[in-house]
Amino acid sequence: MREPYAVREAGLPDRVTVYEVGPRDGLQNEKAVVPVEVKAEFVARLAAAGHRVIETTSFVHPKWVPQLADAAELLGLVEKVPGVRYPVLVPNERGLDRALEHGVEEIAVFASATETFARRNLNRTLASQFEMFEPVVARALENGLRVRAYVSMCFGDPWEGPTPVGQVVEVGRRLLDMGCFELSLGDTIGVGTPGHVTALIGAFGGPSRLAVHFHDTYGQALANTLAALRAGVTVVDASTGGIGGCPYADSATGNLATEDLVWMLHGLGVETGLDLASLVETSTWLAARLGRPSPSRVVQALGETPTGGTADHDVKE
Ligand code: HMG
Ligand code: MG
Repeated sequence: MREPYAVREAGLPDRVTVYEVGPRDGLQNEKAVVPVEVKAEFVARLAAAGHRVIETTSFVHPKWVPQLADAAELLGLVEKVPGVRYPVLVPNERGLDRALEHGVEEIAVFASATETFARRNLNRTLASQFEMFEPVVARALENGLRVRAYVSMCFGDPWEGPTPVGQVVEVGRRLLDMGCFELSLGDTIGVGTPGHVTALIGAFGGPSRLAVHFHDTYGQALANTLAALRAGVTVVDASTGGIGGCPYADSATGNLATEDLVWMLHGLGVETGLDLASLVETSTWLAARLGRPSPSRVVQALGETPTGGTADHDVKE
């Protein structure tokens, strides 16, 4: 069986945009640095599989995330496919300058819902992170860029425990009010559960301009996604093969796997525009480059044994 049986559930969206974060959230957390040519091929394969939005890399401080220090070189190698968006992460004005120099058309800023993670991930306080983002968003909009925003630690934080829903809404609203077109609610350490998801979307007053970004640490990512779909969300972040995590939150493991998400969406009769077989092939190819099997259950069920590359050949330790 290569595709799920499709049975529609009433009330779900007809179509969902899968916002692919593998090249960024996935590769930022790999111990080894993946060669830039492999990254460029990865991005090309994702576009060929039907992705229309591929978060490609980050213009963060290269010492903070050395895995993505080749951002500029990578953008030079990516052959842009018409109709495909290639957003990049940008935390500050220095990052925006670099993005503008390289012809980026869409960026994503990333805020924290908690004090401790703001300090650890951005070297800023919860309050002062906005001073960093405000000029970035304003200048990006002046230059005709689209700006997405993330809020991290929306459900819980390894140092502070559960995150109050009101605190997430306050941070998220400020980002939307700056002019960000979309707000992705990040469960950075994967501690959310479906009732919490429903409550958080309700606290925002509904799904308008919201996306969801689940990490799968406790195996809740698909259940949480279904709760978000039932609440009307139509943009879901996911990562090829379930790779990923945040180097500044030890307990962050892989993202929701794109293939697992697509299996569920196609099973629910929700259109994605994605070719599941090509996604699985790409994950199997990437797993061979990374030298370890994909954590995705769907890739394990449908994939071939990885061949054609090993960590020794393709990855610089
Ligand atoms: P800082 O040390 O406070 O930076 O870091 P600064 O503003 O004090 O500047 C210090 C020096 O760094 C200066 O150089 C700057 O030019 C340079 P100097 O003048 O001393 O020679 N610099 C830069 N160079 C290149 N590119 C830049 C840049 N910025 C400053 N962009 C900073 C502050 C925000 C830069 C740092 O904390 C950082 O890069 N953090 C990023 C951490 C990160 O990428 N984390 C992972 C992504 S977030 C995530 O994964 C969560 C998410 O997936 C959602 C979820 O799961 O919840 C999105
Ligand atoms: Mg993430």
